[in-house]
Amino acid sequence: MNRRNFLAKTSLGLGASTLLPAIGCQAAVTQNVGEWEAVRADFPIKTDVNQMSQMLLASHPTPVRAAIEKYRKALDENPAEYVEANFATMERETLMAAGEYLETNPLEFALTDSTTMGLSLLYNGLNLKAGDDILSTTHDHYSTEKSLEFAAKRNGATVRHIDLYEAPSAATLDQILNNLKKAILPNTRVVAVTYVHSSTGVKLPIKAMSEVIAEANKNRTEAERIYFCVDAVHGFGIENITVKDLGCDFLVAGTHKWLFGPRGTGILWAKKEAWDMVSPTIPPFSQAYLMWMESIPEGPLSFYSKITPGGFHSFEHRWALKAAFEYHMNIGKEKIQNRTHQLSTMLKEGLATIPHIKLHTPMSSDLSSGINCFDVDGLDAKQTIEKLHQANIIGSTTPYRKVYARLTPCIINTEEEVQQCIKVLENLKA
Ligand SMILES: Cc1ncc(COP(=O)(O)O)c(C=O)c1O
Repeated sequence: MNRRNFLAKTSLGLGASTLLPAIGCQAAVTQNVGEWEAVRADFPIKTDVNQMSQMLLASHPTPVRAAIEKYRKALDENPAEYVEANFATMERETLMAAGEYLETNPLEFALTDSTTMGLSLLYNGLNLKAGDDILSTTHDHYSTEKSLEFAAKRNGATVRHIDLYEAPSAATLDQILNNLKKAILPNTRVVAVTYVHSSTGVKLPIKAMSEVIAEANKNRTEAERIYFCVDAVHGFGIENITVKDLGCDFLVAGTHKWLFGPRGTGILWAKKEAWDMVSPTIPPFSQAYLMWMESIPEGPLSFYSKITPGGFHSFEHRWALKAAFEYHMNIGKEKIQNRTHQLSTMLKEGLATIPHIKLHTPMSSDLSSGINCFDVDGLDAKQTIEKLHQANIIGSTTPYRKVYARLTPCIINTEEEVQQCIKVLENLKA
């Protein structure tokens, strides 16, 4: 393996400031785009059980499996030469698919292995100093909380966790925005939140929150500016959004949940103006390595080149991510959003009529997405999920200090499966 050659190719032939034109996505994809039965048939998932937990870890649809298989075979046959010959092209294509999906510059993405890796690279890489304030919430995932804790231990910043709402089912836009506004301090440099809470199903009004932060930034110098960071894993792949629609500075998502991308893949996106706020924590390969070898002069690096962890990866999975983006765009982001909301609304409306069920997720699609949390009188969440399992329904419990039962229908599911959940829960006896 000629390492210099390999590294040279990892510069991708893209200047740090290049804004690549979007490429067309010509995926070989399900022939019956938009027909949900055809979408369901693309997944080898067991349908003799009712799968209501796809939010945790994706099953791979046909085009993703085919892409993984293609790269796996080629890598198995001739790993060193195949990587050397194809690395630059495949990384570029993966980035361009991400850029097209979120309608932004492909070089603004670092490629990661999971949401957790993205959160850790972001929060541990933030250039903060002792006395800086990180404003976070009580609704975030373990991976956000721990990444912030580890980072603050090293840089001396403080982390505060506020409630954006009290009862999730009664959360309102005004309440969330007021609580955010009140909590911003002169030394706040980071606001760290989660788009759709896997703890409650609440979807935050990210755009409106970004406007509150922009207002607070109006009279601040660059050194005092607040950066808005979002763990978007549970909106990503559902909501018909672009990075502009959200208005945040950083967005983190695993692509192996709602996007149905290859397991072990994810993205960390950074607005160009925010690139300098993050330093790498894992040595990147590509141009940075060549600079270290003194093969190319020191110079600015794109976010991709600076933050994407180096080392070799499970490239068959990483490069097949392009197929997942294409799969979604071929079905249509808006269609996916509407279908996911339709199934969740059907479920919530059914649960709301059952006297022994307390629904915790807001009914409104403005404040919820694909995650639905509830309690059954007289049962704890684990017992509820166990009872559902006995009826062949695979639900989950929220992995938080307050534990709820959770059902998360997605584009693979049918309306009949949603109705079955309602029926079983209706008949559930403590
Ligand atoms: C809100 C949230 N963030 C992060 C994660 C961790 O995701 P990953 O498995 O991609 O690291 C999860 C897990 O489901 C989650 O619910």
